Amino acid sequence: MNNFSYYNPVKIIFGKGSIARLKDEIPTGARVLVLYGGGSIKKNGVYDQVADALKDYSWKEFSGIEANPHYETCMKAVELVKENNIDFLLAVGGGSVLDATKLIAAAVYYDGNDPWDILAKNAPIKKAMPLAAVMTLPATGSEMNGNSVVTKASTHEKLSFGSPLVFPVFSVLDPETSYSLPDNQTANGIIDAFVHVCEQYLTYPFDAPLQDRMAESILQTLVQEGPKALKTPKDYAVRANIMWAATMALNGLIAVGVPQDWASHSIGHEITAFHGLAHAETLAIVLPALARVMKENKKEKLVQMGERVFGVNSGSTEERVEKTIEAVESFFRSLGVRTKLSEYSLGAEIIDPIVQRFVERGWKLGEKGDITPLKIQEILTAAL
Ligand code: NZQ
Ligand code: ZN
Repeated sequence: MNNFSYYNPVKIIFGKGSIARLKDEIPTGARVLVLYGGGSIKKNGVYDQVADALKDYSWKEFSGIEANPHYETCMKAVELVKENNIDFLLAVGGGSVLDATKLIAAAVYYDGNDPWDILAKNAPIKKAMPLAAVMTLPATGSEMNGNSVVTKASTHEKLSFGSPLVFPVFSVLDPETSYSLPDNQTANGIIDAFVHVCEQYLTYPFDAPLQDRMAESILQTLVQEGPKALKTPKDYAVRANIMWAATMALNGLIAVGVPQDWASHSIGHEITAFHGLAHAETLAIVLPALARVMKENKKEKLVQMGERVFGVNSGSTEERVEKTIEAVESFFRSLGVRTKLSEYSLGAEIIDPIVQRFVERGWKLGEKGDITPLKIQEILTAAL
């Protein structure tokens, strides 16, 4: 196992009725900005619960944070924070709202010229405003990590940053808030969490059985509970299991001491940036294609995952590898998510501009740093 230090200060407040706990967790006297998206929280009663919990606070709101949040929108919120002497940010919504809030928290105190440098140039963050979350969409794990992904709409760049300063102080996870998710968002969330685990697990054998078993248990839970959430969307136990699985998938725990991949995410972000597909749709397309192209690197773990998660117990290594990838694809498709670029009306013409971006950035992707622009071309071709 590699050396590691693990730090995760996020307090999780989990369960039905937990939104009321905001009043115990937000410091007395804080001047709060509640940030949210396009209005789902007004329809499902979450806004009212938050407003009720905040009735003894001075608070303002900022709405309209879009899915795949825009940098430009974040900068408008930064102005509002400064004008109103806000000192605590509360994100209420999905990963997009929370990721935007993390950037806003850092940008408010940024002392360089352009806060976009936090994402584009890894500019150091010295201070951030405290933030917390009420998470309404199990998917990203953003509620228990210090990462954020933001898009600059003007240049179609979707980039990420991470800092311990933007960990939420606490996150409220009430599974009942996810009852109102449309089927496609439920499915997208399950796939995002599934692929997060794969990015940290589907690499090569590393003699880390605890991390492996934890990863596999999250995958098994998603495979078992995912279809139930679509069949019985108001089953509390199912929603609770998915919510906790999504959080555990990306709070850093299963990644400690082991190699990680993240190439499916990097490639997927470009598909979203250029063509607007939902984050999980890009992952459902890229992960299976990447597993096929990179199977020499990943074959042992693919066989292990096939056996332990999908019950693939027979055949040669080559056959088991393919059966496992097919099982992943059929799991995604059983949730109603398409797995080929052509099914989203995208063809070979999209490949070159994406490959070009990786040529310019000079990034070395994959757990062995061997996913070159040429390999990315192969992966996207396999995904057609
Ligand atoms: O905007 P509103 O009206 O709230 O509607 C949202 C949005 O349209 C809706 N929604 C959320 N909760 C709902 C609901 N609708 C009904 N009932 C509810 N309870 O769902 C839509 C999608 O929301 P969004 O926040 O965009 O989805 P998600 O949570 O999947 O977040 C995706 C973003 O997170 C980034 C992605 O790249 C993408 O930008 N990621 C962040 C990560 C992180 N911070 O660690 C890691 C991930 O890999 C990912 O990259
Ligand atoms: Zn993701």
